[in-house]
Amino acid sequence: MISHSETLTQYRRDYRPPAFLVPRVEMIFDLDARATEVTSALYFERNPRQEICCRKLILNGEAQTLLEVTLNGTLLSPAQYHLTDKELHIPNVGERGVLVVKTRHAPADNTELEGLYLSSGIFCTQCEAEGFRRITYFPDRPDMLSRFTVTIRGDRKILPVMLSNGNLRAQGKLDDERHFATWEDPFPKPCYLFALVAGDLDVLHDQFVTCSGRRVDLEIYSTKENIPSCAYAMDALKRAMRWDEQRYSREYDLNRFMIFCADDFNMGAMENKGLNIFNSALVLADPKTATDDDYHAIESVIAHEYFHNWTGNRITCRDWFQLSLKEGLTVFRDQQFSSEMGTEASERIQMVDFLRRRQFPEDAGPTAHPVRPDEYREINNFYTTTVYEKGAEVIRMQHTLLGEEKFQRGMALYFERHDGQAVTCDDFIQAMQDASGVDLTQFKRWYEQAGTPEVGVCADYHADTREYVLTLTQRTPPTPGQPEKKDLVIPVGFALLDRDGKRVPLQQAASQWDEKSAAQESVTLILREKEQRFTFRHVPPGVVPSLLRDGSAPVRLLFDYRKEELRHLARYDSDPVNRWDAMQRCFTGELVALAQAAKEEKPFALSEDFLTLYAALLRDDRSDPMLRALALSCPDLAALVDDYAPFECNAFIEAQRFLLKTLADRLQNDLQTVFGQQRACISALPYAPTTEQRAHRRLAAHALSVCCANDDASSLALADDLYWRADNMTDAIVALTAIRDSGSALRADLYTDFARRWRDHPLVLDKWFSLEATRDGDDVLARVKTLTEHPAFTLKNPNRVRALLGAFALRNFPAFHRNDGSGYRLIAYYVDVLDASNPHSATMLLNAFRSWQKWDVAQRNHAFMALQELRQKERSPEAGELLDKMLANV
Ligand code: BES
Ligand code: ZN
Repeated sequence: MISHSETLTQYRRDYRPPAFLVPRVEMIFDLDARATEVTSALYFERNPRQEICCRKLILNGEAQTLLEVTLNGTLLSPAQYHLTDKELHIPNVGERGVLVVKTRHAPADNTELEGLYLSSGIFCTQCEAEGFRRITYFPDRPDMLSRFTVTIRGDRKILPVMLSNGNLRAQGKLDDERHFATWEDPFPKPCYLFALVAGDLDVLHDQFVTCSGRRVDLEIYSTKENIPSCAYAMDALKRAMRWDEQRYSREYDLNRFMIFCADDFNMGAMENKGLNIFNSALVLADPKTATDDDYHAIESVIAHEYFHNWTGNRITCRDWFQLSLKEGLTVFRDQQFSSEMGTEASERIQMVDFLRRRQFPEDAGPTAHPVRPDEYREINNFYTTTVYEKGAEVIRMQHTLLGEEKFQRGMALYFERHDGQAVTCDDFIQAMQDASGVDLTQFKRWYEQAGTPEVGVCADYHADTREYVLTLTQRTPPTPGQPEKKDLVIPVGFALLDRDGKRVPLQQAASQWDEKSAAQESVTLILREKEQRFTFRHVPPGVVPSLLRDGSAPVRLLFDYRKEELRHLARYDSDPVNRWDAMQRCFTGELVALAQAAKEEKPFALSEDFLTLYAALLRDDRSDPMLRALALSCPDLAALVDDYAPFECNAFIEAQRFLLKTLADRLQNDLQTVFGQQRACISALPYAPTTEQRAHRRLAAHALSVCCANDDASSLALADDLYWRADNMTDAIVALTAIRDSGSALRADLYTDFARRWRDHPLVLDKWFSLEATRDGDDVLARVKTLTEHPAFTLKNPNRVRALLGAFALRNFPAFHRNDGSGYRLIAYYVDVLDASNPHSATMLLNAFRSWQKWDVAQRNHAFMALQELRQKERSPEAGELLDKMLANV
């Protein structure tokens, strides 16, 4: 472990092309859990593009034992090379040659799960971003494109299946015990896309015929008992392959596409060329063990990783500062896919909600950074919601500015121009600009500037002229290292609703916006300057503006809506995103008023208007049940912290409890009726994770958990009944969630039954761990501690850590923020322990502290002490960087 002072900061401006290229690599793996030997032959040559002549070949490498180095057939003595704990330097290598490096590893001891490691006894690898250097000495950078040939040797019984990227070239027996397999990937690729899998695996086979008629073998590898549960992932894969052909004209390029599902995996999944590796939680699904949400996540992640084959693999990143080039773009593509597979509106609402809950706080905190960062110490800390989700919004805005047709022309040019290259975000924008003729110079600032822009809105109606004047302003607050901000190009979706909720035809006073959207009922206003005025004619009195429709830009909208205007929008806006947004603003208004009452020790009261609105939306059976469920969900307290800092945690916690309990008391009948109706819609059907069924189950779930909030016996009985009749995991989890905070004995019965029933099924037990960790009540801390000793729990597995400790820290607002600081100390303890074995898990937990400076004074003091203490010790580069940032300027 390296102390933070030794860790160097990398700067984007320092990019230099590599001095040497390695167009070809041949690797041999002799696999053994404790003593694997890796032999790599690097066929190197001087890079003609790099003028500065460096005679030294510099390779990255760590966490392995160097056995021998051979240059052009001659064994080098240690005096002929220079070895540090991070690099291997070979001087005077000439113009070209072949360097053979042999190293030894102990995959069984690799707890970081980066490089080559064992997952449930199966060898597997994770190389992105800089894991390949833990496998062999190599110039580990994404602009180093090489053709790989990989030979794997291993025990025939223990490792009957041995996989790597590309095509299987040869396989056979070596002796009575050992065999080999040789894989060749015809596509040059950066080493972060390298993968190896070996073990006793079974496979689910299928086939896909591409648009040009080529047959592709599809294979999902897992242990035998899991194979039937891979079927849904396989179907999702075929849907994704077809979709990419139809929407982006992207055809798959190898004859084989493999997926391996790993029990121990830091991330969700990884797009290694021809051999994706997935967290088993994102592959395995059957109705008995997976929920609707699991199915949904599987479909979207399978698609995401598959889409990387073009946006990421065929065209990759020049350096890691360009990460959003592949991740933002691929998230945008998987979002489009999910929208087209499901319901566009509810998918979009969930994206906007995620962005505002997770990315906005990041952008407002100590780790704020641009979509394309300028510097980093540890690249692993930059797989963030800014690079991913804000990056996807930046692509979406280009789509909005260009329109579908020009956007597609831009994509086609990007693919054609850069296939086989490692490029930058500038190259992407250039292709968009060249293909569309739209000038994106100012737009590019979205890649450079951190912070969530604020768009101020001022609306004036002139009754005499019937003119409606909208003044839009923009401001981006300063972020660490970026005190001044420039004006951005901000598309603002806009409509005016009349008193009946109908959209008013918008007539421009002068040509002010995009011609193609002129004279419509909704338009996209383009804000480019600090302040801009838009005038509309022939507007009737009493209209309500609907702004930022469809979440048209990742900005905070500052407009002083009157309460009745919000209620009007929540009921009548034709844009589902804004209906949802208006309802969320209504909820927030109630929470803020209640929190104020709590602070002043005044009596609590929910406004009657709000109750009426909530009831009206609940009963509105013309509206999609999924949209209703989303609109009726109370916002997460964590999402309010930035807007109401210093955030009075206790007052808001009390406010939220009261709000939910009041809804339960006042609307019990309605809630129970809606629950019954929604269940009735699907009761005759066998479980299937379809969009329609999911929507009914989701609204039923919402109604059930709200009506259980006051512990009423008749509501609890509904949950009890749902649990015992459940023939699928979704229903069981809905029931358990609804009674999670109940004081009744029922709760214990159901929870005990569930834990017993699934004791041998870790992925299902994770759901139980999360439910236990997110309970309200005084004993939850003790409970979490006890559960870390549960036989199924281990700190070694990232899914277990996320399910129990991650859920507690990130999703149990009241318990984590306990006044005495015990919630923080509990998590800090595990950050400390985990940092020594798996820094990825440690920083996942550490992120729960990200907004600590915005908390109430008691919380702030306890958090500060916990963070300070963590920083006293030697930390991993990941945790060290995060702690330094969180503690800067205090
Ligand atoms: N390339 C990433 C996986 C990755 C992330 C590797 C960080 C190394 C470090 C992959 O494409 C990815 O983005 N996975 C996401 C899921 C996706 C649907 C957003 C993940 O693993 O969370
Ligand atoms: Zn990705």
